Formats: sequence, C-alpha cells, structure tokens
Amino acid sequence: MLATKLRPCLRTLGGPTSVRTFQQRAPPPDYGFAFDIDGVLLHGSTPLSGATRTLQYLQQKRLEFLLLTNGGGTSESRRIRQLSKLLDTPLHIQQFVQSHTPFRMHAQSRGMENVLVVGGAGDNCRAVAEQYGFQDVLIPADVLVKWPEVAPFSDPAAWEKYARPVAKGRKVDAILCFNDSRDWALDLQLIIDLLLSDSGRIGSRRPVSKVLKDGHIPLYFSNPDLWWANEYPQPRLGQGGFRAALEGLWRTITDGKGELKATTIGKPHQPTYEYAENVLTAWRMQQLGEESEHPELRRVYMVGDNPKSDIAGANGYKSPWGTEWVSILVKTGVYRNGDDDGGAKVVVNNVEEAVRWAVAREEEANENMNARGD
Ligand code: G3P
Ligand code: MG
Repeated sequence: MLATKLRPCLRTLGGPTSVRTFQQRAPPPDYGFAFDIDGVLLHGSTPLSGATRTLQYLQQKRLEFLLLTNGGGTSESRRIRQLSKLLDTPLHIQQFVQSHTPFRMHAQSRGMENVLVVGGAGDNCRAVAEQYGFQDVLIPADVLVKWPEVAPFSDPAAWEKYARPVAKGRKVDAILCFNDSRDWALDLQLIIDLLLSDSGRIGSRRPVSKVLKDGHIPLYFSNPDLWWANEYPQPRLGQGGFRAALEGLWRTITDGKGELKATTIGKPHQPTYEYAENVLTAWRMQQLGEESEHPELRRVYMVGDNPKSDIAGANGYKSPWGTEWVSILVKTGVYRNGDDDGGAKVVVNNVEEAVRWAVAREEEANENMNARGD
C-alpha cells in the first residue's frame, strides 16, 4: 500500500505523474462484484451480449467477482464447468454460490439424518445432497416407483432409472427443496402427505386439527424467486411459484387455519448474502494472496435482474464485516421498464454497462480522494 500513500505527495511535489518507479504493480482495488446469472449473464444456456467481454475485462483488471445465483440443480463443480464453457471464461468453484450451496452447512445437523430432497432433473439433487454430506437422501421418484398410486397421474417409468428401494415404515425428518420441481403433482402430493404424516412416516396420516396443534416436519426452500428469465420472451415461474402453489394447497387443506411454516434461503435473504460475502472474500484473498498488503474488500457491486431478490437482497443486507453492497439492476431479465425497480442504486441496460458504471464511480471517488489529499 506504500505506493498509494506516496501517490498524493508525488503529485504535489511535482514528482513523476506516474508512480511506476515506486510500485511494481498498482494495488488491487478494494471492491468487487457479485453477478446474478439468469437474466444477467445468461438466458438459459445462451450467453447475453457483452457477458463474456465483461468477465474477461474484470479478470484482466484483477477485479474479483462472485457468481451468486438462485439457480442450482446440479453440483457446483459440474455447473461451474458448464458456465466456464458457455461464457468462454475460466471460472472457479471458489467464486460460485448456488441457491442450495448453503445447505451444505446443515448436512451433519441433528434432525437432518433422513431427508426428502425435492427438485432437479433425475437424481441430480440427491447426488448433490450426498456430496454435501447428507446421509440418507430420499427423492420423490423412490416413493413413486415403489407406490405408483401415490401420484396417480405421474409416470413411474420416467423415474425408474433414478429410483432406489424404500424401506417399509421409512420416515423423513425434513424436506429440502433444492431446485425447481420437474413434476409438481408428484412433489406437491408427497410434501402434503409428509406435512400431514405422523413424524414424517411415509404412509401415515394425522387429523388436520392435530397437525395444526402439533406442527409438521421442517420444510426448507432454497430459492424464493416467483419469476426468472430464460430464453422465453416472458419470465418463467420459479421455485417461489412452486412454494406459492403449496401454500395455496395448505391453506385449503387446513380450511384457512394453517400457515405453512418453512425456512427459505437464497437471495434476498441475509444468510445467503453472508455466505456469499465469505466466499468472495476467501476467493479474493486466494487470488491476491501474494500481496500480503492488499486492501480489504470494502464494497461489492451486486448486478442482478430481479428487484425482489438481487436488488432487495443487496439493499437489505447487513454485512457483519461492514462491507457496503451496491445494487445495480439490469433490463435483460425479469425487470421490465415501468416495473418497481426495488430501489436499485442504478438501473442500466446490461451487465457491461453495470460494470462500466461501477468502475467509473470508483475512479471518480479515487480522484476526489486524491484531490483532497486523503
Ligand atoms: O432457478 C433460477 C432462477 O430462480 C433465478 O436464477 O441466476 O437469476 O438468481 P438467478
Ligand atoms: Mg436473475
């Protein structure tokens, strides 16, 4: 940091306009970025214009960034390989957080011994949950293939190759929605069965009055997004839509007396942002490690397309480490002109403009600081 301290003195003393002679390399900036994926970098598997150029620019400028998505459904390692290919940019698992990544922290917790994992294609989410360390992972396909009558309009044959045997009297301690359901009828039916069951025992049932009195097994969602943006011209229903359908069913089944009790992580929720900040800080330390004097991370520019998740999350996040999160909303995803922008610091057309705005803002702040001789 010596060079930065020298810079103002040199300028007033008429020293060389560049401080090249005093520094090997300009110290890395004290800010970074968090990029949402769907609607900012990609539409489905189609890169958005300027996305690759922007990420490569940041890598050249040593401006570290995190990919922070409410998406998921596969392992972080597999997804980051896909993203590196799609965006033609070397990306790393240490700069990547998916909706269910923070579930990893609960894998060894008491009451998580037997879980039902919902969502995702095939048995991908079972594989992810087991990779996180969850011991006994059931998926809806297991129950459907064992008892096809459990969901009379779902097709066991479509799930046969993913299913595992289900022991009689199998119980479920908790239900975790990892990703978007591929069969709403089956998944909604199974979750309702388990919420009405006796302590999560498959095939058991309690009267609704007893459920309202004693409660139900824990239910977790990893993503609250009602809408998300893919290649279709209008946003699509996300995991938040599935949850809304479940809440509607639960209200009807309990004659309006029951409030579905569930824990939801993912953007905009504080735990996901804390987890994300930790990941970005660790990644940045690893990247800048060779300079023991590099500046602490002081600001993160959150670039997103969804006012209710990306923007609300960045605006509402209280960093335990005092880092400021600045929300930048792009028009390439869920948000459309005229919608409520969620109080974004700035609204720009796309991810390239977002980064340009942030870098210009930082350079202006630096110049003002130097002019003041801070
Ligand atoms: O399922 C993914 C969707 O909810 C939004 O993902 O990348 O925009 O946070 P993302
Ligand atoms: Mg998005």
